Amino acid sequence: MSEFRQVVRRRRMVRRYDGRPVDPAALDRILDTARRAPSAGNAQGQRFVVVTDPAVRAAVAVAAGEPAAVARGLPPWLSSAPVLVVPCVRIGDYLERYAEADKRASRPPDDRPVPWWWVDAGQSLQLLLLAAVDEGLGAGLLDVADHHALRAALALPADVTPLGVVTIGHAADGPAVGSARRPRRPWDEVVHWDTWGSAVNHPDGRCPESG
Ligand SMILES: Cc1cc2nc3c(=O)[nH]c(=O)nc-3n(C[C@H](O)[C@H](O)[C@H](O)COP(=O)(O)O)c2cc1C
Repeated sequence: MSEFRQVVRRRRMVRRYDGRPVDPAALDRILDTARRAPSAGNAQGQRFVVVTDPAVRAAVAVAAGEPAAVARGLPPWLSSAPVLVVPCVRIGDYLERYAEADKRASRPPDDRPVPWWWVDAGQSLQLLLLAAVDEGLGAGLLDVADHHALRAALALPADVTPLGVVTIGHAADGPAVGSARRPRRPWDEVVHWDTWGSAVNHPDGRCPESG
């Protein structure tokens, strides 16, 4: 199996870290990989706020609701991670790019069911997670309960939208929890060949891979 496919298969959301620090050079490589995601019109509206300062990390953990989660009996997730990365989107980059001469005749990036900036955000987010695995680290994404508190903790400008928080560190062993225990949907359900209602999901009439 190719190294790329192994990295993809190894990636799971990591919610516990063992306290070891992250090599700053590895963190640089992870961020450099994430910023290479493709983007509509090459607008590159992705931004990353990297948080290693203990006070800012604590404020982000509060914004994400960690104290309440710990009070409910869950182990601390964010505060066990030495590095937090908040991926953000600056929509203005797209509006500005599509107002440029070579793009003015194109369909605007928000004139579609899903604006391109959210597509691009997901791409850079996935690269961030995979690059962490490629460095032998673990990473996890979680939602933030209080976006106002997150914005305040990071001093985000009004035109920058945070997506959530990515935790990065050395993974502590632990069983799959919550949603991760759900089985992967079978190939037949996910892959449609030629047309949605086609009787076959692969020209060979079989599913090439499972698991
Ligand atoms: C957009 C997005 C938001 C997520 N938010 C959370 C979250 O708030 N808390 C959490 O524990 N996991 C969160 N997850 C992790 C998913 O539960 C996880 O990706 C899924 O169960 C599959 O497990 P795996 O990533 O380990 O393969 C999120 C994942 C994505 C892609």
